[in-house]
Amino acid sequence: MEKLNNILKHNGTVRLETDRLILRKFEIKDLDELNIIVSDKEAMKNTDWNSKSFEDTKTQLNTIISNYDDKLKYVWAIEAKEDNKLIGVIELIDLYHENMSGEFEYFIRRESWGKGYVTEALKEAIRYLLLEVNMLRLTAYFIDSNIGSKRVLEKAGMKLESHSRAGLYTNNGFSDGYGYAIIRDDLIKDDLYKDIYVGSV
Ligand SMILES: CC(C)(COP(=O)(O)OP(=O)(O)OC[C@H]1O[C@@H](n2cnc3c(N)ncnc32)[C@H](O)[C@@H]1OP(=O)(O)O)[C@@H](O)C(=O)NCCC(=O)NCCS
Repeated sequence: MEKLNNILKHNGTVRLETDRLILRKFEIKDLDELNIIVSDKEAMKNTDWNSKSFEDTKTQLNTIISNYDDKLKYVWAIEAKEDNKLIGVIELIDLYHENMSGEFEYFIRRESWGKGYVTEALKEAIRYLLLEVNMLRLTAYFIDSNIGSKRVLEKAGMKLESHSRAGLYTNNGFSDGYGYAIIRDDLIKDDLYKDIYVGSV
């Protein structure tokens, strides 16, 4: 375990930036906007984030904020630089410390779909977690009908690894699920990351 702690440089939800986005810690001022996003039941049916009321969202937000002391927690608020508005969430819902791996979940508000924002956020989170934290492997799962999520993972250089029948539980119940993953070695080979891996891996 001590050896692992020397390799892994977990530093929690640090602030990250891309061309159009800021990935940062949530703050209590985000409550109203977050509640608008998670109240879109149709959009949230493909996730397992479940918020039944404003009070529920408030409790969940307070939990996220109080967990930031834990350097193994990665829950980023996605903010658009153009208007500093909260547009979504990207997080590691599971972190397997001893396997040096973690699993992503993400969603953004409906008005922001189709602009490449989640791909941009995911690529930056992958870069940070694999190259700065030194994790080895990152995964993400989506239900078979969620073509948008599939495209995001492909565009971020993640690769199909699994198909599990009735293997994924979301707010829509059990569905067939697909699992994608990226490992640190992929960054060396994938042109998508050629600007960032030079000298880093
Ligand atoms: C899925 C989601 C995260 C995608 O985020 P996004 O910022 O819109 O994604 P991007 O713009 O980076 O890329 C979306 C890609 O999917 C494609 N796409 C979206 N819906 C599609 C559909 N029904 N059929 C085919 N392609 C689709 C887009 O055309 C785009 O691909 P392209 O760049 O090749 O044209 C977003 O729609 C969302 O938050 N949905 C609700 C929550 C959710 O499903 N989360 C994922 C849980 S696994």
